[in-house]
Amino acid sequence: MTHSPLPAPAAADPDRVLIFDTTLRDGEQSPGATMTHEEKLEIAQLLDEMGVDIIEAGFPIASEGDFAAVKAIAEQTRNAVICGLARANAADIDRAWEAVKHAARPRIHTFIGTSPLHRDITRLTQDEMAERIHATVSRARDLCENVQWSPMDATRTERDYLCRVVEVAIRAGASTINIPDTVGYTAPRESAEIIAMLLREVPGAQEVVFATHCHNDLGMATANALAAVEAGARQIECTINGLGERAGNTALEEVVMALKVRHDILPWSTGIDTRRIMQASRLVSAVSGFPVQYNKAIVGKNAFAHESGIHQDGVLKNAETFEIMKPEDIGLTATNLVMGKHSGRAALRAKLKELGYDLAENQLADAFVRFKALADRKKEIYDEDLVALMQDTAAGAHQDLVVLTSLRVICGTEAPQTADMVLAVDGVEQSTTATGDGPVDAAFNAVKALVPHDVRLQIYQVHAVTEGTDAQATVSVRLESQGRIFTGQAADTDTVVASAKAYLNALNKFLAYERAGRPVTDIAAAVS
Ligand code: KIV
Ligand code: ZN
Repeated sequence: MTHSPLPAPAAADPDRVLIFDTTLRDGEQSPGATMTHEEKLEIAQLLDEMGVDIIEAGFPIASEGDFAAVKAIAEQTRNAVICGLARANAADIDRAWEAVKHAARPRIHTFIGTSPLHRDITRLTQDEMAERIHATVSRARDLCENVQWSPMDATRTERDYLCRVVEVAIRAGASTINIPDTVGYTAPRESAEIIAMLLREVPGAQEVVFATHCHNDLGMATANALAAVEAGARQIECTINGLGERAGNTALEEVVMALKVRHDILPWSTGIDTRRIMQASRLVSAVSGFPVQYNKAIVGKNAFAHESGIHQDGVLKNAETFEIMKPEDIGLTATNLVMGKHSGRAALRAKLKELGYDLAENQLADAFVRFKALADRKKEIYDEDLVALMQDTAAGAHQDLVVLTSLRVICGTEAPQTADMVLAVDGVEQSTTATGDGPVDAAFNAVKALVPHDVRLQIYQVHAVTEGTDAQATVSVRLESQGRIFTGQAADTDTVVASAKAYLNALNKFLAYERAGRPVTDIAAAVS
């Protein structure tokens, strides 16, 4: 099979910027953002549909689970290049190739830390490291036509050495050179200068694509990525919602919308269908268990909300007074049509479609049952309720070992509170009564009694989806076991039920992880 290393539009158009999404690799590495196999496939499918050029699907040598996910994504993806990450050694590179080789357009991404700090860790001299880069990029290139190479911590690498190793990688056959600002240390002018220097100084630089990979530790990831593009980079590495270790990575939605809205001064384009942005943001937030900050650019709850009288008045007269982009551009519906108990299946289908959920007949039937159950408990159902309902469905969609059958709590002013719980554990119903300091504590104690496990509850958060006493609560739970984080989310009009379900959602991820065996290598320690 012959593979085109670059998507056709990018090869033809010098102003086209490739979007490289690493939500499933760098994003998933952030503590707590662990995703299940099915969740990764769902995200990859959406990324492909919305026009992402390259999907970094994972780090295949990290674990059997990572390998299986990258392979499955490679097999299912229609358009995007599928990329697997590998450190600078033969075993990593071979494993990455095994996982991506079934893709229509596979890519191996190999990297090594080139800054003095990293050279100290690997105990390689400059010459030894250059040799290692040549050997590993050549090996990747023997396997795969499309090879990306990254000098990790590039922005803290001596400039002359950076030029030297980039030249080595190009000579060995890399067609994309990625310049990571691994610790979020650079600033826009410097980010641009580094790309300009490499394009100017390195022989062969004009023949490859330069990528920018920024972390957000100083809040400059988006600005740094755009500055690199101004200087000649033509691939932006980013994640949905800016998910990623520490302060995260460049947010896809921010760079894509900046290029769209300020095309007059940033005259580069992407292939992203921006109307899918909100859907992607919601999906990644639900799956990772990381809520989106209310005032987050583009996708935050308040990004298009106008509270003050002057703003509301202005927006009503002419939306452009205070809005630089239309809500519809990112897939937010213009009207908030309220649904209720009498809304039919067709209305639900239309509403969900507006919200970005295009459901098959059986999925719609399932959603309709859940919608009716919610409508029985809640008079008016808003967009946010439906999104919570769909996210809740997604969270419980995979084969869970432990499922909540029933829960009854007895509360009063006097502690302790009591929870009667029935769980289906591997299909077998088991019940117990437990007490606790409050109803949620009692419910969690009941789970622990029925399914003994050794984890620590790190975070428990409750958010009201809408206003009113009948509002649904979405609950996020974060469990920790031996440094590994498992998150869960659930929504219900009953806060205690939502809490129990969220706890079980996280617990099921932990149990699945235990069953699958622990990863063979700790990727979080190796890269960021
Ligand atoms: O931040 C980083 O340096 C990385 C590399 C693996 C590209 O994620
Ligand atoms: Zn990174």
